[in-house]
Amino acid sequence: MAIKRGKVISFTSVKGGTGKTTTVLNLAGILSNRKIKTLVIDGDFYNGGIAVSLDVAFDKDLYLLINDMATSHFDNLETYIKPYNDYIDILPAPKDPRDANKIESKYLHVLIAKARMKYDVILVDLNHIMDSNNLTFLDESDLVYYVMTNDLNDIKGMKTMISIYSDMDFTNYRIILNDAKDKLKQTLSRVDVKNVIKDDLDYVIPESFYLSDINNYTLKGNIVTANKGIRRKHKKAIAVFESIVDEILDSGDKDVKKETSK
Ligand SMILES: Nc1ncnc2c1ncn2[C@@H]1O[C@H](COP(=O)(O)OP(=O)(O)O)[C@@H](O)[C@H]1O
Ligand SMILES: [Mg+2]
Repeated sequence: MAIKRGKVISFTSVKGGTGKTTTVLNLAGILSNRKIKTLVIDGDFYNGGIAVSLDVAFDKDLYLLINDMATSHFDNLETYIKPYNDYIDILPAPKDPRDANKIESKYLHVLIAKARMKYDVILVDLNHIMDSNNLTFLDESDLVYYVMTNDLNDIKGMKTMISIYSDMDFTNYRIILNDAKDKLKQTLSRVDVKNVIKDDLDYVIPESFYLSDINNYTLKGNIVTANKGIRRKHKKAIAVFESIVDEILDSGDKDVKKETSK
């Protein structure tokens, strides 16, 4: 029997609050609709919001898992994960943010290797800080998605990041412009954003996906994309999430090099 090798897909940004967590949850919803076994790792160690958004109570967290690995008490992954539904499991970020900086990257590699054997897709919800743990996840990823908003600081930071990646010859990242988050704050046109960052916007979450009542879903632990009413009303946004999922499922099976417009 072939050993399963799940895909590791990370979500990051160059500034905070761009819609990473919301995007990860929406994609998990689509994967779950497609009956694909998915683990969501809350990699925002200082401010993780996955368990809260999904209204999942937990007592074990990622810090405990890593600590058990370091002290040879680790048993198996199931001990630390919490199921959300039949297809989505979650691994919560440390409950106590003071534990976050005690996590050693070397154990994250072990965690990822174990997760790859059990899940088809592992979505890692990171923050925007390039510390060693974030870099470990990025390094392990089959594909990295940057979620950005149409905000001048965000656009400037993205431009810098792209030029660093270009120098490093790193190409397995994609850019998602989230137009749904700050619809009142839009500054540049889409063409201008592309011209400034000198790269393609691979996906755009349309402005029409702005949900003024988003907290009514998240606080009740509901995933928007798994909601039939929302799916009907927001076909354009759902189509974007569906195509990201198609790309995720394809990643690793073929060359995922980004074809830039440069
Ligand atoms: N489509 C949307 N409609 C309305 N509000 C949104 C939408 N996407 C994100 N938000 C809001 O923006 C804020 C930041 O989103 P979040 O996904 O937590 O960003 P990040 O994980 O990048 O910090 C949250 O309060 C969230 O509810
Ligand atoms: Mg987040």
